[in-house]
Amino acid sequence: MLIQGSTISHNYLQSFKTAVSELLLRKPGLAVVLVGNDPASAIYVDRKIKACEVVGVLSFKRSLPENISEKDLLLEIQKLNNDPLVDGILVQLPLPPHIDSNKVISFIDPNKDVDGFHPLNMGKLLIGDTSGFVPCTPLGIKLLLEETLGNINGKHVVIIGRSIVVGKPLAALLMQREANLNCTVTVINRFSQNLKEITREADILIPAVGKPNFVTSDMVKEGATVIDVGINRIEDPQAKKGYRIVGDVDFTNVHPICEHITPVPGGVGPMTIAMLIHNTLKGFHLHNK
Ligand code: GUN
Repeated sequence: MLIQGSTISHNYLQSFKTAVSELLLRKPGLAVVLVGNDPASAIYVDRKIKACEVVGVLSFKRSLPENISEKDLLLEIQKLNNDPLVDGILVQLPLPPHIDSNKVISFIDPNKDVDGFHPLNMGKLLIGDTSGFVPCTPLGIKLLLEETLGNINGKHVVIIGRSIVVGKPLAALLMQREANLNCTVTVINRFSQNLKEITREADILIPAVGKPNFVTSDMVKEGATVIDVGINRIEDPQAKKGYRIVGDVDFTNVHPICEHITPVPGGVGPMTIAMLIHNTLKGFHLHNK
């Protein structure tokens, strides 16, 4: 069965729209910082801003040049940290190589860190303190799993990839001491040995690798659930734009053997955006307590 991330995300956005329409004080605000001209990042940022428009959240886009100095970028963030109309700040990654991403992320006010990448929020996630922001893609995946499987208590989840955007926070979230979580989590990376043996043990397999067709049918247990986090652009002269978007999974051959699978596009991607709005509303309520 296909897991319809687009539909589930749409339903969340509708409920956020209702919640925002009932706010009397002011509208929540999200600042999105884009550095440079990476076309994929520009598309993601536009989608995030569009979602703000749909639900009635104010968006503040800051497009900054590729060669901006780290100091000037930090000054921009400081302005947003101090702006009372801004409830959430997102700096689109990756940043150009001359900028230290960790330094930039650590400079964001943790109470506006809607990506949940600040060390304080990452730390809260690790210790099970739910007052912090949880990164959007992991949070979206957790909700997709809950909607699809109900209880995933004690399931073996194998995550391929250990990034701060997906792999590490997702592992922390799914192993959380909570009645419907408590998963057994294995996180593997490019150096892991016996990769296939490990992935074939997964009740829930979550690749976040960035390589088309990385997950082949011999890596998947029959009846498993597969959550494909990959977003890869591949050349396709037949396609309207000359390219297609595919995930990390060889969908044609994996689809028949698994119980549930997310499509790409239309799976995890829209959930990430819905959770960004969720976190922005959480920021708003933090600032209006
Ligand atoms: N680049 C890829 N995914 C993300 C994300 O979730 N947040 C940010 N800020 N940058 C990203």
